[in-house]
Amino acid sequence: MKAGDVLAERGQYRIELFRPELLNGMATVLSILLGPDRDRAGDYLRWKHMEFPSGEDPILLAVTHDGGREVVGMNGFLPMTWSDGSGGKSTRLACWADFIIHPEHQRKGLGRLLLSETTKVLRERGFSAAISFSQNPISTKLSLGLGWRAVGLATCARLVSPGSIPGSSVALGGRNSVVARGLRFAMRRFGRSSASVFEKFDRRKTARPTESATKPRVEAMALLAATTGAKGRLRLQRTKEYFAWRFKNPIARYRFLYLSQNDQLQGFLILQEFLTRARGRTVVLDLTAGNAEVAVELLRSAQVQGGFGNMYMLAECIQPEVRKYLMTVGFELDGPRNQVPSLIIKPLDTATGGLSNRVLSSLNSWHFQFIDSDAF
Ligand SMILES: CC(C)(COP(=O)(O)OP(=O)(O)OC[C@H]1O[C@@H](n2cnc3c(N)ncnc32)[C@H](O)[C@@H]1OP(=O)(O)O)[C@@H](O)C(=O)NCCC(=O)NCCS
Repeated sequence: MKAGDVLAERGQYRIELFRPELLNGMATVLSILLGPDRDRAGDYLRWKHMEFPSGEDPILLAVTHDGGREVVGMNGFLPMTWSDGSGGKSTRLACWADFIIHPEHQRKGLGRLLLSETTKVLRERGFSAAISFSQNPISTKLSLGLGWRAVGLATCARLVSPGSIPGSSVALGGRNSVVARGLRFAMRRFGRSSASVFEKFDRRKTARPTESATKPRVEAMALLAATTGAKGRLRLQRTKEYFAWRFKNPIARYRFLYLSQNDQLQGFLILQEFLTRARGRTVVLDLTAGNAEVAVELLRSAQVQGGFGNMYMLAECIQPEVRKYLMTVGFELDGPRNQVPSLIIKPLDTATGGLSNRVLSSLNSWHFQFIDSDAF
């Protein structure tokens, strides 16, 4: 298979492998999800699929209409390497991203055709399995119908009472106090302002050993990422090349908190704000720490420095001790999101040393330290 190959045809529609001339059309379709700025959607596609540091060709397919002249849908996967953290097995898993059919062309079977053609491409390219962390009820129904399996549900931990974290300079006295309720009302009413959620965070400084920054420390982060996490569980290999790429996403802003001792990084926390959808939300994108105390200190520092009105993180990424702490300071578990499984997999059964389906299908096989996909 090569760029521009037509993989399937149905009436006026074609499923085509990516070729550069399709990029603008793909950006136009994707801007339905990302917001009206087509240039930004194009930058996002270029960054995500063309600059991803795997050295492989992008895995992008388009649905075209009218003899290939109009793009009406797209689908993408990122080729990611996962390992079990013991320095042994690693495996290439294709992570699902950017699946859309233009509303005027939906309900004609194109989504189903596009996904099954993409699966053939993944199989040919030797992936052990395809995985997805970001679903909605329609894409779930569609993929389960094509042999994908539900592995687990994701729960979102949401900070609902911002002032109650000990040491916070915005102490408000509990989640049901008048002030806290007023603040929540104001967040709902005015939370979509154009101001960055990081305004306060950028003005304040946190006390050592925690430090804040606007840039990733790619080498130290990669070193720590390689040595933390439950051994034997699958985690994404986050190399320095991965970290150097990850935060160049043109549709989001990031802030970093580092906790070091004797110049050795002990933990880091990454905050994300979208510039498009879900503006005004602070997402704890990544919390990587050598132990629970470091994780709690990073979360506490983030909240004290940022005074965030809301903060979200994927509960599956949080160690049980840290989760307990969060519950005492005002986080609530919220979810599962959309009532659909958030991790689904499609075993591809290639003969290239893939992990067994039993391993892939158990939530206990996975270790999540960060939000893997839909928060890109
Ligand atoms: C998800 C999406 C790509 C599906 O594309 P599509 O071309 O409409 O899908 P298909 O026509 O192949 O439909 C396949 C099946 O999906 C389900 N489905 C599709 N649209 C649906 C809808 N609006 N409501 C309920 N079920 C629906 C049906 O089971 C359908 O099978 P059926 O027609 O035999 O009942 C499309 O709805 C879309 O672009 N949505 C917005 C973007 C998005 O949500 N992407 C996924 C991000 S996780």
